[in-house]
Amino acid sequence: MRIDVVSLFPDFVGGCAGFGVVGRAIERGLLTVEGWNPRDYAEGNYRRVDDRPFGGGPGMVMMIDPLRAAISAARAADPAPTRVIYLSPQGRRLDQAGVRELASRERLLLLCGRYEGVDERLVQAEVDEEVSIGDYVLSGGELAAAVVIDAVARLQEGALNDAGSAAQDSFADDGLLDCPHYTKPASHELGDVPGVLLSGNHAEISRWRRQQALLRTLERRPDLLESASLDDADRRFLAAIQADAGHGSR
Ligand code: ADE
Repeated sequence: MRIDVVSLFPDFVGGCAGFGVVGRAIERGLLTVEGWNPRDYAEGNYRRVDDRPFGGGPGMVMMIDPLRAAISAARAADPAPTRVIYLSPQGRRLDQAGVRELASRERLLLLCGRYEGVDERLVQAEVDEEVSIGDYVLSGGELAAAVVIDAVARLQEGALNDAGSAAQDSFADDGLLDCPHYTKPASHELGDVPGVLLSGNHAEISRWRRQQALLRTLERRPDLLESASLDDADRRFLAAIQADAGHGSR
């Protein structure tokens, strides 16, 4: 997969992509990340990339031409068509299903805005989709781009050392939060590891983990249960928990 990043701080995004799973995906040739700085395409002595908003108001708006030229250069660097994603708090809020969809594409271009935003005409002409990483405002799209790159890189086949770990993550295909995890020592002053995990009984371990995932989701993000894939055993377990809670509160 190829990801182009159009940003005034391409080194920042490239730096974030240099570590851990993303760094390894790049080393393994599963992912290419290339930065494009609109300032390199700006004209005049000052290489101006922004100006004051028409109509007045605070802040600066990124100008059309330097961004457009950087996007064109990125497009021309590879024959594969690309999907242009503008990172902005006005976009569709990213979730794991959205990450899976982005990760399945051959190529993405991530457009990072700064200041008050980007001239709307550029957005209308060049952007296929706006994506937000959450309901809060960052001072630019770079951190959001780094988040997208990380989430997408770990889904590339061969990026994780243990292919099973993506399947086990929170929000994996079943849409539940992850169960708790433990490692050595089994006994510690902070507590003992739940006995079932030491039992060697794999069916029991799977059942316990599933129930813990259901419990965590019910306690922390009950909204996710509405769209999670649940089987009859899951539904019975949740019904029993809720019936117990009902008895407890009387
Ligand atoms: N740029 C500024 N805030 C953002 C957000 N929440 N998500 C994506 N891009 C942004």
